[in-house]
Amino acid sequence: MRYIFFTKKQKRMALLSLTQIFVTLKAVNRFKTMKPINIKEKHALFSKQWHPHRIATLDNMQVLLAKLQGEFVWHSHDDEDELFQVIKGTLYMQFRDRTEIIKEGEIIVVPKGVEHNPTTKNNEEVHVLLFEKLTTAHTGNVIDDKTQTDYPEL
Ligand code: NI
Repeated sequence: MRYIFFTKKQKRMALLSLTQIFVTLKAVNRFKTMKPINIKEKHALFSKQWHPHRIATLDNMQVLLAKLQGEFVWHSHDDEDELFQVIKGTLYMQFRDRTEIIKEGEIIVVPKGVEHNPTTKNNEEVHVLLFEKLTTAHTGNVIDDKTQTDYPEL
């Protein structure tokens, strides 16, 4: 068996190259995220309803876009708050004791642990932006036909 010995200088050079690769990757990523992202253009890139697409991440959060039509599924998220912004249309957020109407340009925050069910009316397709933790499960504590576990990146 043959052993390869590296000198201190060689080890330092290897470490430097590794560091450089990481710095470069980070820079590329930062460059990517520092470009403006047009929400309407991104929404035009997919048609599948109730399937969130990821357009950005920051720290442990994600920004998702989704197209909704009809009724989703009753669920809650034990450890995550969830923000919805209506980009197009009118969203009816059902809670167990009431329904909130969220119009274009408005947001609503669903606190952790609160049961909710996003719904649209009159056959309208509603476009939303979601802002939530990367760990937030699509349908929270329930599994449904609509449940998605993989969000495509746009
Ligand atoms: Ni939810």
